[in-house]
Amino acid sequence: MRKKVTVVGAGNVGATAAMRLAEKELADVVLIDVLDGVPAGKALDLMEAAPVEKHDSKVTGVTGDYSAAKDSDIVIITAGIPRKPGMSRDDLLNTNMGIMKSVVTEIAKVAPNSILIIVSNPLDAMCHVALDASNFPKERVIGMAGVLDSARFRTFIAMELNVSVENVQAFVLGGHGDSMVPLPRYSSVAGIPLPDLMDADKIEDLVERTRNGGAEIVGLLKTGSAYYAPASSAVEMAEAILKDKKKILPCAACLKGEYGINDLFIGVPVKLGEKGVEDIIEIKLTEEEDNSLKNSAAAVQGLVDDLKRLTE
Ligand code: NAI
Ligand code: 2OP
Repeated sequence: MRKKVTVVGAGNVGATAAMRLAEKELADVVLIDVLDGVPAGKALDLMEAAPVEKHDSKVTGVTGDYSAAKDSDIVIITAGIPRKPGMSRDDLLNTNMGIMKSVVTEIAKVAPNSILIIVSNPLDAMCHVALDASNFPKERVIGMAGVLDSARFRTFIAMELNVSVENVQAFVLGGHGDSMVPLPRYSSVAGIPLPDLMDADKIEDLVERTRNGGAEIVGLLKTGSAYYAPASSAVEMAEAILKDKKKILPCAACLKGEYGINDLFIGVPVKLGEKGVEDIIEIKLTEEEDNSLKNSAAAVQGLVDDLKRLTE
């Protein structure tokens, strides 16, 4: 039977993810948005590309009709608003929390066995909202950030060394924010550890550029944030689940004591398969790396506390 993936939010990330899912023939895709006509228009446009792109995935788009998401295997949630000038972090948290809650409540009714891939920001906090609103087991609520942040680090390493990106492996852990934790020690080029190929100052430059990766794109685009690499990253996670690949990817998962962190979503290496998060891999960290991860966890905890305060 064909797999089904629903993408909520037919904006930049959502529509691009729908395109990649369809072109890879991973599933039939349903796009849902609040905007009138937009999801249906983008879906039809994607269907009209199918003969040229040579795929038979079906893409449909609806406005607000969650029955279209019935029995989805995966739901990718990109609905939300970005922070605008004059808006406080609380305003963004509050608005996106409301959107996430309403979307996930509807999804849980029609696709109770689905796996949720959360994309909306602030990412780690939105995973908490999705977990609470869905009542799903924690293995079926996963946040996308680490794949993107690691892809950025890999890109910068490949550009610096003038080697194929395919040769470059890299891991970025922690929350999706300024406190993320790129791990040069676990990064390699064709199996050669990164610190053997680059001096510490250059690595630090690339780490810093990775931490600012989202802001760098916003600074260039001016009217929005990145979407090609975010969509690719969400689709890589979806593919690992749909094909039960048991692929190890950095994702935001709800920790229950792993890395000494409890009841918090944060980016760690997880094994993704048909059940969602099938394992959380605990890698050995140096004291400095461990402190950075704890520092990042504290920043995420601050957002989660803000969420609680806003709902009181
Ligand atoms: P966008 O503005 O292009 O699209 C968002 C879409 O959500 C819009 O079409 C809007 O109409 C829709 N929407 C708003 N409320 C909705 C609701 N209640 N139900 C259904 N749809 C609703 O934004 P873009 O660029 O696609 O980004 C989406 C989100 O993903 C943002 O929160 C952004 O910050 C986040 N993001 C996260 C990344 C990550 O690494 N986790 C990377 C890139 C973006
Ligand atoms: C990014 O990292 C905005 O979270 C988004 O590009």
